Amino acid sequence: MSGERPYREDRVALSILGRLMERPEGFTSGADLSRTLRVSRNTVWKHVRRLRALGCVLEGKSATGYRVTRMPDSLRPEFVQAGLRTKTWGRSYRAYETLGSTNDACQAWAREGAPAGSVVAAEAQTQGRGRLNRSWFLPKSKSLAFSILLRPKLPPGELPLLTLASAVGVALAMGDEGLSVGIKWPNDVEWKGRKLCGILTEAQADLDRLQYAVVGIGINVNAGTKDFPPDLRDRAASLSQALGQSVDRPSFLRKALERLEEVHGWLESGRSDRMLTEWRARSTVLGHQVRIRQGDRTLYGQAQDVDAQGALLVRNDVGMVERVTAGDVDRLRLEAPRTSIRRAGTGRRRPV
Ligand code: BTN
Repeated sequence: MSGERPYREDRVALSILGRLMERPEGFTSGADLSRTLRVSRNTVWKHVRRLRALGCVLEGKSATGYRVTRMPDSLRPEFVQAGLRTKTWGRSYRAYETLGSTNDACQAWAREGAPAGSVVAAEAQTQGRGRLNRSWFLPKSKSLAFSILLRPKLPPGELPLLTLASAVGVALAMGDEGLSVGIKWPNDVEWKGRKLCGILTEAQADLDRLQYAVVGIGINVNAGTKDFPPDLRDRAASLSQALGQSVDRPSFLRKALERLEEVHGWLESGRSDRMLTEWRARSTVLGHQVRIRQGDRTLYGQAQDVDAQGALLVRNDVGMVERVTAGDVDRLRLEAPRTSIRRAGTGRRRPV
């Protein structure tokens, strides 16, 4: 992480944009901005110039004022935080051009005392991590890689609920864009069986209490087929491929933070059943035959439910229900043998 610095935070530019975004159609005068933000007209002008240099299109009309006509596709604080409607999530925010891993940076910030709801985002990661210590790839500036710091009052055994809740939050945000998505246990957000988003939750815990948890979220937003490495092309998809149009990353990040804060709020207020209902409604594995790979062990069975701690309940081949807390799940379909007579148990199992 050495040498990586977050984008400079410009509170005046952020306030100017926030104010202009409150009136997207109308113009706001420089005098009004100067009065409400308690800065000089010259300061307003300097920041307008800086915002324009960063790619923000600010229309200016003499004797009338300014209005925003286009925001740049950038994760800089002013472009993400202006118009953000969360209570706390993302109010404390650091974004980087390039970073090792947003999860590492967020954990370091947590140790320095960052408040719950702090967010770290990056245009690119050089050491992005996935579940089970795999590396994680996202095409630069066409994706969202961000991590959120949580300080939940949960026993460590309930950590998986944070991951499930995060998948629900992302799925709701995608639903707001008009896309119906599925969730593969525990936390892959999928469209037509292809992965749109992965979530990695890491935590620092004492015996009976979580000190903090960091939820890292990687979303394929505007990547095209060629942006994915060849081995991922038939397994990954982007939001823009699913929607047939490009998606504005800063505004989708705002939407995701709003939905994530809402769903995690259900957990905090003891309504995890509401979150689990939303999760079950989107599950792509419940009720299906699955294969679960856990290191050297492979378990086959029918995925029946998730329990109150977020573990997957699987009825195995001998009829016993196993509680699964980690592993890679594949949905199977039973393939009929090539004869017209199909006997129970003769089908071969293939991933869907
Ligand atoms: C997975 O599906 O295996 C989880 C992938 C999680 C990737 C995100 S990208 C932002 C955050 N930083 C990381 O290093 N990993 C997570």
